[in-house]
Amino acid sequence: MEKIIVRKSPALKGVIKVDGAKNSILPILAATLLCQEECIIHDIPDLQDVKVMCRLLEVLGAKVEKLGRETLKITAKNIATCEAPYELISKMRASFLVMGPLLARCKNAKVCMPGGCAIGTRPIDLHLKGFKYLGADIKSESGYVNARTEKLVGRDIYLDFPSVGATENIIMAATLAEGETILENAAEEPEIVDLANFINSMGGKIVGAGTKTIRIKGVKKLHGTEHTVIPDRIEAGTYMVAAAATGGDLMIENVVPNHLQPVIAKLREAGATVEEYDDKIRVKAGDTIKALDIKTLPYPGFPTDMQAQFMAMLSKAEGTSIINETIFENRFMHATEMSRMGLKVKLEGNSAVLKGSSKLSGAKVKATDLRAGAALIIAGMMAEGETEITEVYHIKRGYSNIVKKLQNLGADINYEK
Ligand code: EPU
Repeated sequence: MEKIIVRKSPALKGVIKVDGAKNSILPILAATLLCQEECIIHDIPDLQDVKVMCRLLEVLGAKVEKLGRETLKITAKNIATCEAPYELISKMRASFLVMGPLLARCKNAKVCMPGGCAIGTRPIDLHLKGFKYLGADIKSESGYVNARTEKLVGRDIYLDFPSVGATENIIMAATLAEGETILENAAEEPEIVDLANFINSMGGKIVGAGTKTIRIKGVKKLHGTEHTVIPDRIEAGTYMVAAAATGGDLMIENVVPNHLQPVIAKLREAGATVEEYDDKIRVKAGDTIKALDIKTLPYPGFPTDMQAQFMAMLSKAEGTSIINETIFENRFMHATEMSRMGLKVKLEGNSAVLKGSSKLSGAKVKATDLRAGAALIIAGMMAEGETEITEVYHIKRGYSNIVKKLQNLGADINYEK
């Protein structure tokens, strides 16, 4: 079984380039099913999740061609089946994002229900509510959701919670519906804006992405396009925290500083110096790390995908830090793993209380999800001795070449078979 071995590392120094955003490319790949023509997409990160989504597109009848190291051409001329199988959906929750495009294109979609995962039960009720409002008849049986319709018709839809996935799935379904859909309390994440820009470049009519109200005017047909995915703000944030946690000084390239405002604000509050440029950010660690209060929120609030990495960094902070997780019900598995490395942490409901500076020491730990895995790598670089991280496949789902990238910055990290 593959492992990552991390030893106490010197301060990270150097320049690192961030890849295209995982959470943008997954919905964008799903959206290629909306049109029959060629879609060329650049800056595709080399990730396991991207491979799973491409395989799913192929099963559904699309042709997926690699044009270069980071470019793919997808042509969904014909849809071979509108059934997305268990084998692929169970590998990755985001594959449920093919439901909206399939329903729009084929008026029929049968997609295996994604299960829960390490971070919570993660229901899909808001996705289904949206499809229903647009006119789909939804049936759930034998672990599959089957949505059928004569035609989709635009409606006003209010989301009870600004779910990222539901916003994306509903936008994609509404793109080919008759009339206008107004989606209220929509998610405002940059990845939603990227998806809307992609669909608009295919001839879609979406306005308001990036705000709480998104208007989608249905069109009859979309055409092929060429698009470059936005940089991954969570990958960038992970390296920013790694710099501050190891006492380092990193220049992080290919970022949109505006997408990272809560992360930048919290790093400054912790004592790091953060310099913002047009498309890069420099993070210089402060002499000490100050304790923080963090509450995860939908964008533009502090991202849930960054709290684990901050927890690792805050292990070194003087004073008490509190991390309050409001997005997922069970996203503190990394706290339990880090406590095995000596982190003084107490879990109280959806809060983690870190009691003063902990002296971390290397241990055998498990990456319970991909952000937890990244956080354990950061903790491993701070800890005395050797940390052995198993279930590395989680990390590969969301970070390309993380071991090589960190080695280049001076980290003592290796894969071991
Ligand atoms: N929720 C519902 N009903 C729904 C949909 C969501 O109750 O129909 C709940 C979820 O259970 C969760 C909350 O709403 O408690 C937020 O879920 P959301 O739908 O916003 O998240 P997602 O679309 O499943 C995406 C990212 C996650 C990221 C979250 C929050 C992708 C592929 N995934 O998930 O990324 O944490 O938004 O920002 O875009 C990661 O990259 O590590 C990751 C988990």
